[in-house]
Amino acid sequence: MSVVADHAAAASHARRAASTVVPARVALLGLGRVGRAVADIVRHSPHCLGRPVRITGALVRNTDARAGDAVCPVVDDASVLLRDHEAPDAVIEVLGGLEPARSLVLSALARGIPVVTANKSLLAEHGDELIETARRSRTAFRCEASVLAGVPFLGTFATRPLAASIDTVTGILNGTSNFILSRMSDGVAFTSALKEAQQLGLAEPDPSKDLDGIDAAEKLAVLIRQFAGLAIRACDIPSTPLHQITLRDLEHSRELGGTVKAVAFAQWTGDGRVCCFSGPAFVPNSDPLAHLTGVLNGVRLQRTGQEPLCFTGPGAGPEVTARAILDDLAEILQAPDIITLKSAVSPAFIGQPSTLGWYLRFASNHLPGAVDIADLLAAHGIWIQRWGPRDTRCETGEQRVLTFPCRAEDLDAALEALCAASSCTANAFPALGSINE
Ligand code: HSE
Repeated sequence: MSVVADHAAAASHARRAASTVVPARVALLGLGRVGRAVADIVRHSPHCLGRPVRITGALVRNTDARAGDAVCPVVDDASVLLRDHEAPDAVIEVLGGLEPARSLVLSALARGIPVVTANKSLLAEHGDELIETARRSRTAFRCEASVLAGVPFLGTFATRPLAASIDTVTGILNGTSNFILSRMSDGVAFTSALKEAQQLGLAEPDPSKDLDGIDAAEKLAVLIRQFAGLAIRACDIPSTPLHQITLRDLEHSRELGGTVKAVAFAQWTGDGRVCCFSGPAFVPNSDPLAHLTGVLNGVRLQRTGQEPLCFTGPGAGPEVTARAILDDLAEILQAPDIITLKSAVSPAFIGQPSTLGWYLRFASNHLPGAVDIADLLAAHGIWIQRWGPRDTRCETGEQRVLTFPCRAEDLDAALEALCAASSCTANAFPALGSINE
C-alpha cells in the first residue's frame, strides 16, 4: 500500500472510531463573531478534535433576532444550558466582558464543568476568584486564546517553571491597533483604518478598549499574573490612547530609525515591584517587533542577561480565536483537570519604566532652538540620543527627539519646565531599545 493510501486508510479508521464515540456535549456562552466561528468549525469539521463534538446550544441575548440564521440551537436563559440532569461536558465562554460571563463561568466551574474562555477582561479582573473555584472543584480551566490568540504558548509556560522564570515582557498584544498603525504607515487615515479593522472582525464591540490601550493592558495583566505571579488590574497599568499618534509621527519615526507601535511592557523585581505601560511607543528597526505588521502580534519574554524567547503570530480575528478555543477544548477532553491560570499576589509597587528612553514631540508656534531644548532637558538629567528633522510644514512647528533611558519622574519635571519656559506643548512616549543596537 502507498503512503497516501496508508494515510487515507488511517484517516478513515479514525473517522469510523470517532463516530462510535459519544460526542462531547459543549455549551456555548455567546454567539458573536467568535462564537459563530466556533460553531461553524464544529459543524463543518465535527471530528477535528479527535472526538466528535456537539454544541448543545448557545446563549444569546435575544433568541428572536438570531433564530433565522442560527448555526446551533439558541437560548436566552443560561440555566437551560447548564441544568444539572443534562450538564454539558464543557462550557465555552465567548460572551466577553465581566457580567454575566463571571457568574456563569464561576457557576460552571463550581459544579465541576470544565471551562474554556478567551475573555481577557474576565481573567484580568477576576483571575483569583476563577482559579480558586477551579482548584476547589478540580475542574479544567483554559484560556490560551486570551493573549496572542493564534499562538499557543501560555499553557506551555504554565507547567515549565524554569522557562517561565523571566523578569521582562514586551509585546504587541492588540491586533486592531497594530493593524491601524500599519495602515497609517502606508498613509491611510486613522478613521478609515479603524473601519477596515472593524470589518475584519478584529476590534472589540467597544473599539475604545483597543484604541485606548485597555485591551492590551488586560492581556498584559494576564501575562504579569502568569510570569511574575502578581495580580495587577488593567486599570492600574498606565495606558496611553493611540489617537495621540499622528501620520507625521509615523513619517518622522522612520527618519529616527524606527516606527511607532502599540506596545505593552512590564518589568518586575523579586520583591513585587513592577514597572509597566500599554500604549504607543517608538520601536527601533533593530527590534523584531518593529516588523510585525497588520494583525500580527508578538511577545518577547526575557530574563535579564539571557537571550529572549519570542513568539509571533496572528493575535485577533474570529477564526484564529475559535481555533485556539477548540484546541483548548481538545486538551480538556483528553485531560479534564488542566488549569492554565496561575495564582498571584498583589504587587508592592506599580510605576512607569526607568530602563527605557523616550520619544518626545514638541509643538509650538515659536519652537525653542535645539540648543535651548537640549540644555533645559540636560539640566534635569535627560540626554538626547537623536534629533528628528524640524517640521515647519504647518503653522505649528514640530520637533521630535529620542532620549537615552531616564526616570519617568525626571522626564515629567524636565518637560514641565521646558513647556513653562517656552510655551510649547510636549508629548512623551516610551522608546524601546537603542537605535545604536
Ligand atoms: N480586539 C482584540 C485585538 C481581539 O484587536 O487584538 C483579540 O483579543
